[in-house]
Amino acid sequence: NKPKVYITRKCPEDSIKRLKNIANIKMWTDELEPVPRDILLNEVKDVDAVLTTLSEDVDESFFSHANKLKVVGNLAVGYDNIDVKAAERHGITITNTPDVLTETTADLAFALMMAVARRIVEASDYVKKGQWKNWGPLLLAGKDLHHKTIGIVGMGRIGTALARRAKGFDMDILYHNRSRDEMAEKTLGAVYAPFEDVLEAADYVVCLTPLTAETKGLFDGKAFELMKQDAIFVNVSRGPVVDEQSLYKALVGGKIAGAGLDVFEKEPISSDHPLLSLDQVVALPHIGSSSMATRYKMIDLACWNIAKILEGKPAVTPVKSRE
Ligand code: GLV
Ligand code: GLV
Repeated sequence: NKPKVYITRKCPEDSIKRLKNIANIKMWTDELEPVPRDILLNEVKDVDAVLTTLSEDVDESFFSHANKLKVVGNLAVGYDNIDVKAAERHGITITNTPDVLTETTADLAFALMMAVARRIVEASDYVKKGQWKNWGPLLLAGKDLHHKTIGIVGMGRIGTALARRAKGFDMDILYHNRSRDEMAEKTLGAVYAPFEDVLEAADYVVCLTPLTAETKGLFDGKAFELMKQDAIFVNVSRGPVVDEQSLYKALVGGKIAGAGLDVFEKEPISSDHPLLSLDQVVALPHIGSSSMATRYKMIDLACWNIAKILEGKPAVTPVKSRE
């Protein structure tokens, strides 16, 4: 009698090998729509494990439907979609997918900085739409990254990996974090500064902090006001860390120069959202960790975590509730 696992999103068969032999797997297979809440809650009743994505709210009502649930493997490093305290009350293990996505996500963060700075998307559209008639001295002129200052808010694994990339571009590195990163200070010359000081000094402000009660709305009107008029803001963490209305006002009012956004308050963002009407905004559909290799590693790690718990062993990468 094998344990039962529910997977909330269609994953390739060869990515879930670790679970195939040890469990009976049921998967939501619609590629466009996430699993509807009522179907999910019904599936939860009868399974030992669920592999979730950041689209699912794993909250008290989710856990209260479970009868023999032991583990929820979230297919992301962030787990703000999960009420970990409630999971702990129910004795259910929560796991995430750290480390395997660090470098890939740092690549994307850097790509967004470059895309906004050098107007890559605008320039590509310009060529594809047949608007390119002539070479011009200031045609689509953008901003440099090299020798500028990057301000990293949230110096975890991804922040440190981004700082390494910035060092390669001879950037000055400022960061703000709950705790100091002595390694990054020593090896990369990263300089710790209070949040406000980072905002004031950075040419590129990159948000990498997890979404918590403390960081919700951290980037508000006041924060954008502090930034340089030339500054480019990049968010690759979670949408609600930013007040989008304030961001829009800052962009339109010329308080900052541009934004690169991989995440939004509401995902998917509606195509008529005012932010998307701005040339100085590059918007991506939450693809920070989305290289083929890394997504396979994330699915495998989520499966590995689930397999460990089903075998009565400790999880590989469990998470605890934040204090
Ligand atoms: C994606 O956003 C993740 O948290 O891994
Ligand atoms: C994510 O893993 C981070 O620590 O930044």
